Amino acid sequence: MAKINLPSDFAKEIAKSLGMSDKWVDEWFDIEEDKQGYFVAKLKPKKYLEKDQFRTMCVLVRDLGGEGYLEGMKAWRVPGPLAKKPLPQANTTSTPSPMDARSKPEPISGVVAETKHETVKEIKTSETELGQIYPVVKDQFGNILDGFHRKQVNPNWKETKVEVADPLHALRIRVHANAIRRTVEPEEKNEWIMEARRLLNPDDPMQPSQEEVAEALGMSRQWVSKFETLPHRGNDVVKRKFDVWNIANIDLEKPFGDADYPGAIPGDIVGNVLLWFLPNGGKVVDPMAGGGVTEDVCRALGDKYEPLLYDNMSLKNYNYRESIKYNDIEQGSLPEEAHGADLIFVDPPYGPLKEYGFESERLRSVLKGLAKASIDVLKPNGYVAVLMQNYYVEGECVGDFVPLIRETAEIFESFGFKQIFEATVPLHGKVARSDEHMTHIDRRLMVFQK
Ligand SMILES: C[S@@+](CC[C@H](N)C(=O)[O-])C[C@H]1O[C@@H](n2cnc3c(N)ncnc32)[C@H](O)[C@@H]1O
Repeated sequence: MAKINLPSDFAKEIAKSLGMSDKWVDEWFDIEEDKQGYFVAKLKPKKYLEKDQFRTMCVLVRDLGGEGYLEGMKAWRVPGPLAKKPLPQANTTSTPSPMDARSKPEPISGVVAETKHETVKEIKTSETELGQIYPVVKDQFGNILDGFHRKQVNPNWKETKVEVADPLHALRIRVHANAIRRTVEPEEKNEWIMEARRLLNPDDPMQPSQEEVAEALGMSRQWVSKFETLPHRGNDVVKRKFDVWNIANIDLEKPFGDADYPGAIPGDIVGNVLLWFLPNGGKVVDPMAGGGVTEDVCRALGDKYEPLLYDNMSLKNYNYRESIKYNDIEQGSLPEEAHGADLIFVDPPYGPLKEYGFESERLRSVLKGLAKASIDVLKPNGYVAVLMQNYYVEGECVGDFVPLIRETAEIFESFGFKQIFEATVPLHGKVARSDEHMTHIDRRLMVFQK
């Protein structure tokens, strides 16, 4: 094991052990020397480690002469060359042994068991005045699920034991124990939700839907939706790693596109098209730009994208933003400035066609105009990404079925495009209202190349 003379040596060892870059370590941890000469690696706010990374950190720190995870500090520390005193007995979590790894739930990093308000002093006062109202909750292995501070105040605080099946179950108990005992800050609720996401799908925490997260936590979907402040609700885009883009919600808090536009799509759909097909930037054309989501996502991803927006302004009572220029794509052309486009993103009116004064025959004609204009303006090998749903004449899987997904592919192929990708991008937020027929949420994103 290398000698640790500086905090930066500790950072290097962390990077090596976790198989991450120095930059990643920099982004995840604050690493500093404390007054006692120990190097402390503290997880930055809203940063978490996966289960295996957590375990690796504990092993590394042990090997370097440090203690286990310092629960209250969200940190690990190892002695530097000047450290003299032995490490004080902090509230540490010991390294889980590989034998235990299957059955023993991991400590839930990043989830604060009690708020800052619930200081040691307040707990002491409350114990004196009211007694020990709420027992400390422990799992069958002795891990504290709820009540770290109460145990700190009084190691003999009464306990109750619950059998925990897995880390998700442990989290659910923690959430409910806290929710009945005290007022929980929205920020902490968001942390629970994020923790549930990581436990449900460590590879792609954004993949589980809000319904799945709600079920895992034993809360309602509305509760999850209310307290979840997803990164993609801000101006970030979460890169999808599977070809089902289960994008949980429209960006409610800080939307991409105009907030009052009636048919806006989540920014993550456009964002993922750009991240996967045009990562180095380029000219992006949206011929049916609506509320301007494509423009906002381009801007959020940096100067490298040049968005050009068009629409025929068919929603009569809506004021389209100024950056959108009039163009009727059914005519099969786009203005001169759109020539040399790298990518065309288009979200045609596929769902309630009537709202746009459409029938499917009209949509076919629009799609032909779109395919013609696209082949004319795109650079060689350029892409066109089309969002599309099949159509039922009477709505919601009722009435004649019009296979618009297949027809769209056929139209683009007839203009010389080659389909290179298809992802399922279900509609979110619809409620099934009937036992008589299915609710229609299937939707696809198709990418064609010139
Ligand atoms: C589903 S909306 C697009 C929403 C947009 N992606 C967003 O997230 O804000 C479809 C848009 O296509 C436009 N549109 C319909 N027919 C058109 C046509 N022939 N030429 C150009 N735009 C058209 C409508 O005015 C509407 O704004």
